Amino acid sequence: MQDLKGKKAIITGGNRGLGKATALAFAQEGIDVAITGRDEKALQATVQELEQLGVKATYAVFDIGNYAAVQKGIKTLIDQLGSVDILVNNAGIAAFGTFNEMDVDQWSRIIQTNLMGMYYVTKEVLPHLIDQNHGEIVNVSSTAGLSGNASTSAYSASKFAVIGMSESLMREVRKNNIRVCTLTPSTIATDMAVNLGIASKDSEDSVLQPEDFAELVVAGLKLPRRAMLKGASLWSTNP
Ligand SMILES: NC(=O)c1ccc[n+]([C@@H]2O[C@H](COP(=O)([O-])OP(=O)(O)OC[C@H]3O[C@@H](n4cnc5c(N)ncnc54)[C@H](OP(=O)(O)O)[C@@H]3O)[C@@H](O)[C@H]2O)c1
Repeated sequence: MQDLKGKKAIITGGNRGLGKATALAFAQEGIDVAITGRDEKALQATVQELEQLGVKATYAVFDIGNYAAVQKGIKTLIDQLGSVDILVNNAGIAAFGTFNEMDVDQWSRIIQTNLMGMYYVTKEVLPHLIDQNHGEIVNVSSTAGLSGNASTSAYSASKFAVIGMSESLMREVRKNNIRVCTLTPSTIATDMAVNLGIASKDSEDSVLQPEDFAELVVAGLKLPRRAMLKGASLWSTNP
C-alpha cells in the first residue's frame, strides 16, 4: 500500500462538492492540498478547514476555461507547494436541455469548462510529473460519459470526450510512472445534482455522498505502484 503522507495535490473545483470532500480526505491522509475555483470566499473557508487537519493548504482563483488564467494559477500553486504529485481534475458544470433548447453559448461553455479546462490544467501539470518520473492524475467523467440521455447532449459530449482524452493520456504516460484514472460516478448529492433536480441532500442513506467518492479516490491512490486503477464507476446500492 502506498503511504500518501507528505504528498502534494492540486484539486480543481476544490471549494465544494466532490472536490472539497476529496481535499478533506487527502488532508486526513497527510497530503498538502492546493484547491482551485472561482468563488474565493468558499476557497478561503475550505483552506481553513484543511489547515485545521494539520496540512499545508493553499488556493488559486481562476476560470479553468481560460488558458492564460490556468497557466498563471497552476504555476503559482506549484511554486507554493514546491512540487506536485497528484492532480485531481474535478471542476465541471452541468446543464440539461433539449438539443434545440440549449443555446450555442451554453453548449460551448460546458465543453470549454469540462473538456478544455481539464486539458489546460493537465497540460500545465504534466511536465512536472514527467520530469520527476512519478505522478497521479484522476480525471472525473460521469456515467453520462458512458451513455447519452435525452437532454444531456452537451454534458454527455464533454464527459465522453474526457474519457477519450484520459484513456489516451494513460497509455501515453504509463512509461513515465504516471497513473491516470478515469472515474465515472453516478449521481452524488452535491449542489450540481440538487440544482439539476436529480438528488436532494436530505436522503443520506439512499443517495451517494461526496465522501463516498473521496474514499474511492484515496483507495485508488493507495494501491501499490505496480497496480493502477484505470477507471471505476461508483453507483448507489439503491436502485
Ligand atoms: N454530483 C454528481 O452527481 C456527479 C456525477 C458524476 C460526475 N460529476 C462530476 O463531478 C465533478 C464535480 O461535481 P460536483 O457534483 O462536486 O459539482 P459542484 O458541487 O457544482 O462543484 C463544481 C466545482 O467545480 C468548480 N467549477 C465549475 N466551473 C468552473 C470553472 N469554469 N472554473 C473553475 N472552477 C469551476 C466549482 O467552483 P466555483 O463555482 O467556485 O468555480 C466547484 O468547486 C464535475 O466534473 C461533475 O461533472 C458529478
